[in-house]
Amino acid sequence: MHTVAVLSLKGGVGKTTVALGLASAALRRGARTLVADLDPQGNATATLNPPMTTASLTAVLDTPRDAVIADALAPSSWSPELDVLVSSEDLELLNEPGPDSRRLDNLARALEQLRARPQGERPYEVAILDCPPSLGRLTRSALLAADTALLVTEPTMYAVSGAERAFEAIEAVRQGPNPRLQSAGVLVNRMRPRSYEHHYRVEELRETFGRSVMPTAIPDRLAIQQAQGACLPIHEWKSPGAHEIGLTFNMVLAKILRSSRAGRHRLPGAADDPSAQPDSA
Ligand SMILES: Nc1ncnc2c1ncn2[C@@H]1O[C@H](COP(=O)(O)OP(=O)(O)OP(=O)(O)O)[C@@H](O)[C@H]1O
Ligand SMILES: [Mg+2]
Repeated sequence: MHTVAVLSLKGGVGKTTVALGLASAALRRGARTLVADLDPQGNATATLNPPMTTASLTAVLDTPRDAVIADALAPSSWSPELDVLVSSEDLELLNEPGPDSRRLDNLARALEQLRARPQGERPYEVAILDCPPSLGRLTRSALLAADTALLVTEPTMYAVSGAERAFEAIEAVRQGPNPRLQSAGVLVNRMRPRSYEHHYRVEELRETFGRSVMPTAIPDRLAIQQAQGACLPIHEWKSPGAHEIGLTFNMVLAKILRSSRAGRHRLPGAADDPSAQPDSA
C-alpha cells in the first residue's frame, strides 16, 4: 500500500480536489484505494458520499483498533474498490495540542492495521490522506503515516512562502520520526494557461524549488466543480475539460508511484543535484 498525504499551508488551494483526483486515477488503474479524510470540514467524505458510519477518524485517532477502524470505514458511492475513513467535525479538537495529548502516530498505526488486514479481502494498493488547511497536528499525523507528501498550491504571490514552510514541515518529519517520507514536490492547481500572472508565479516557484515543482499543473476547469457537485469521480464526468483533468491526474499519480518505486527523496535543491534523474511526466 502506497500512502500519499496531500497537504498545503493555505486553505482552498485544492487539496481535496487533488486527493479525489488521485483517488479517481487510482480507480482507473484498477487499484483498490482508501481515502482518509483528516479534514474536520469533511469535504472529501461528502463527495465520496459513503453510507452513515457509527464512528469517524476521531475515534480511530484516539483508539486505532480493528473494531474502531471498521466502524469508521465505509465504501464510497464511487466504487466498491474505494473506501473512506470518514471525517467528523470533532476532528478539529485533535488539531490543537491538548492536556490529554493524543498520540500523533495513531493514524500510522491504523493504516498499518489496514495494510495487514486482507483475510480474503483485496488489500489496498493506494491510500490517500486529505489534510486540513494547516500544518497542525492532523497534518503532522498524516506525514508520520505517509510514504509520499504532495504539496498543493495555486499560482499566486503567496505560493513560494507557503511551499517553503510546508517543505520545512516535511523535512522535519523525514529527519525525525518518518525517515521513509518522500516529497513528491509541489503540484500547481487552478492553472490558467493564458494568464501571464499564473506563468510568472509558476516561474517564481521553479526558481525557488527547481524540479521539485511538478511539470504537470492542474488546469482551472469547471468540470472539477461539476463532478464534485454530482459526487462523481472526474474520470466519469463526460466533458472535454473532465477528460483533460482525468489525464492530468493519471500522470500525477503515475509520477508519484514511479518515484516512490525509485526510492528518491526529491526535496528543494534536487535540481542542483547532477545525479538527479530527469522528470518525464
Ligand atoms: N482545478 C480546479 N478547477 C476548478 N475548480 C477548482 C479546481 N481546484 C479546486 N477547485 C474548486 O475550488 C474549491 C476549493 O477546492 P478544494 O476544496 O479542493 O480546496 P482545499 O485545499 O481542499 O480546501 P480546504 O483548505 O478548505 O480543505 C472547490 O470548490 C473546488 O471545486
Ligand atoms: Mg479540503
